[in-house]
Amino acid sequence: MTGIICGTGSYAPSYIMDNNEIASMVETSDEWIRERTGVATRHIIKDETTVSMACEAAKRALDDGGVKGEEVDLIIVSTISSNVILPCTACEVQKELGAMNATCFDMSAACSGFVLAYNTALAYLSGGMYKTALIIGSESLSNLTNWKDRGTCILFGDGAGAAVMRAKEGRMYLPVTHSDGMKGKALTCLSRHTKVSPEHMTDPEYYMQMDGQAVFKFAVKKVPEAVNEVLEKNHIDKKEIAWYIMHQANRRIVEAVAKRLDEPIEKFPMNLQEYGNTSSASIGILLDEMKRDKRLKSGQKIVIAGFGAGLTWGASVMEWM
Ligand code: ACO
Repeated sequence: MTGIICGTGSYAPSYIMDNNEIASMVETSDEWIRERTGVATRHIIKDETTVSMACEAAKRALDDGGVKGEEVDLIIVSTISSNVILPCTACEVQKELGAMNATCFDMSAACSGFVLAYNTALAYLSGGMYKTALIIGSESLSNLTNWKDRGTCILFGDGAGAAVMRAKEGRMYLPVTHSDGMKGKALTCLSRHTKVSPEHMTDPEYYMQMDGQAVFKFAVKKVPEAVNEVLEKNHIDKKEIAWYIMHQANRRIVEAVAKRLDEPIEKFPMNLQEYGNTSSASIGILLDEMKRDKRLKSGQKIVIAGFGAGLTWGASVMEWM
């Protein structure tokens, strides 16, 4: 028994912030940002919230998969930037979709979130506990971005990506996942839901802080290792892989991973130039784009790989529906 993705959906806020707008806030330039990151624009929330984007992406995924809300029996939302603590975002999505038979919970795994949500749903579906699952990554990172810090504000964007999964007879590919809490300091953000006086809420620790070079080095080493590990574990040759769909953090990271794997860069689709880094939403948004423009074809083997705060990283293999 396994689980397959049978529908995808995504949502991006209509407001687009380009690099020149960022250069009007901090000392940087369009040229520097493009060269070091590959990012040209990012979508930023105005009226949207993490919940509203999750709902819209989820509705589109259900429509795409021809699945009714009441058929869904598991909803997992991965987010680090929800506008609600209680009830969880997944329950808010349930309410909006009328998915009254679903068990709902959120998970927090930052940029590895979509991969971990996929793995979690896969375990439930293949184990026979549920038949239909909805996984969503939704992020309003602009709320956690320090717009005075040029080392981070150039990177992030907002959006949501979703996938509907169904239990199906067939081979289940085993995923590879790792965590290293000892390196947690590389990417941090304090919770604002503490007994801290309001004047301290603007301190930089209440926004994402990152040791950019440490994260970069970690990603280019650990992601190829995880990809090789997942292929070996499932006895799959690299030649069989049609696409490596990686968390969209930085063009240079994706290029370095392709090089270390000795695989052509054409197998590594990117949309970070438009969206920036949308954390747990990025893989879902890219899968949806690729499904809609028909780059994903039935029977193709795909690797998804995530990495981020924690530190956490992992890779999974799937066969496209
Ligand atoms: N514009 C202009 N100059 C800048 C900027 C900027 N936006 N940011 C930093 N600089 C300067 C620095 O001050 C430094 O100047 P100095 O040499 O005078 O001290 C110089 O540029 C080089 O700084 P570095 O930090 O060494 O720049 P680097 O080439 O490492 O690029 C970056 C920085 C883009 C953040 C890079 O480290 C990176 O991409 N890291 C990975 C980040 C990432 O992808 N994180 C997300 C993954 S995890 C997750 O998704 C949550």
